[in-house]
Amino acid sequence: MQNLQGKTAFVTGGASGIGLGIAKACGRAGMNVVIADLRQALIDETVKWFGEKGYSAHGIRLDVTNREAYAKAADEAERVFGKIHVLVNNAGVEVGSAKLWDFTYKDIDFITGVNFLGILNGIKTIVPRILAHGEEGHVVSTASMSGVSVVPGAGLYCATKGGVIAMMETLASDLTGTAVGASAFCPGPVQTNFAANSTQVRPEGLKNDASAAAAPPPPPTPTGDSHTAGFVAPPMPDFSKALISPEEAGERVVRGIRRGDLYIMTHPEFAGSVSAKNGAMLRSFPDEPSDPERVNIFENFFTFLTKNPIYDAQTTPGPLEL
Ligand SMILES: NC(=O)c1ccc[n+]([C@@H]2O[C@H](COP(=O)([O-])OP(=O)(O)OC[C@H]3O[C@@H](n4cnc5c(N)ncnc54)[C@H](O)[C@@H]3O)[C@@H](O)[C@H]2O)c1
Repeated sequence: MQNLQGKTAFVTGGASGIGLGIAKACGRAGMNVVIADLRQALIDETVKWFGEKGYSAHGIRLDVTNREAYAKAADEAERVFGKIHVLVNNAGVEVGSAKLWDFTYKDIDFITGVNFLGILNGIKTIVPRILAHGEEGHVVSTASMSGVSVVPGAGLYCATKGGVIAMMETLASDLTGTAVGASAFCPGPVQTNFAANSTQVRPEGLKNDASAAAAPPPPPTPTGDSHTAGFVAPPMPDFSKALISPEEAGERVVRGIRRGDLYIMTHPEFAGSVSAKNGAMLRSFPDEPSDPERVNIFENFFTFLTKNPIYDAQTTPGPLEL
């Protein structure tokens, strides 16, 4: 979707962090931007910022888990801007660190409700509206690098994000032949207040009881024993250097929309983890010759099982010019 000027983007979680970075990048590209978020004060601040910059924005307070409210928000966006062209499913939360079996059912309901079902709600509400007007469009969902290569202790989060990647791959397949594209945005670490915000937006009924601590305390770090005596720790790096800014994330998303990328990545340092995962999967196939009859069936009648063209369409973007 090359031409974004005058088109409308609907950005969930658009009032802070990465969503705000995406919203700003859409504004810079000349789009009308709907800032859909739970937190009204931040929505107001964001819309004010857009006004000062001379960008076009409209704020809507929306909980992406509320299906009726989502339909009303889409109606409102269409009343204000006419049509929605780009949906950015970015609202997301986290629930801290634990073994998968130690998370509470409240953790499970909260995180899957926002990170997975909330995105399906967006797709079900807005994709038919984009297809109905027939102009070019695009859907981006914010997954995470940790949906590709999992992070120990963050199992629930990784599971929702892995689900989002599969959802966007499926959506891209379903949209083949239309003027609408789909991307899974898989950022590495970005400078935001994600953990604190996730606590803030957690509904009262899904808060854990004080007694239901998900994670047992970590074991004490061994110091000064026979193994560590004499060990000199390397100087600590400045960990903030690992983070990219929400603005950079936003520009990468807008470039991905223009390019029609299936995957939008941020940190090239993580390419190795993708390759490790793919390598493990490839190595795990049985070392047996292919069955010629099955090859014939799959290649001639179920081609999508052996080669889905959405994967071949992905090309490599060059460096980002900020
Ligand atoms: N920060 C990172 O390092 C990082 C890395 C990879 C992926 N992500 C993903 O990026 C997305 C944005 O996170 P962020 O880091 O910018 O944090 P953030 O907390 O600043 O952004 C999340 C936004 O979503 C909103 N939100 C939460 N629940 C909502 C709901 N039910 N309905 C509507 N809005 C809701 C919040 O109010 C907030 O504005 C999330 O999906 C997150 O999983 C973040």
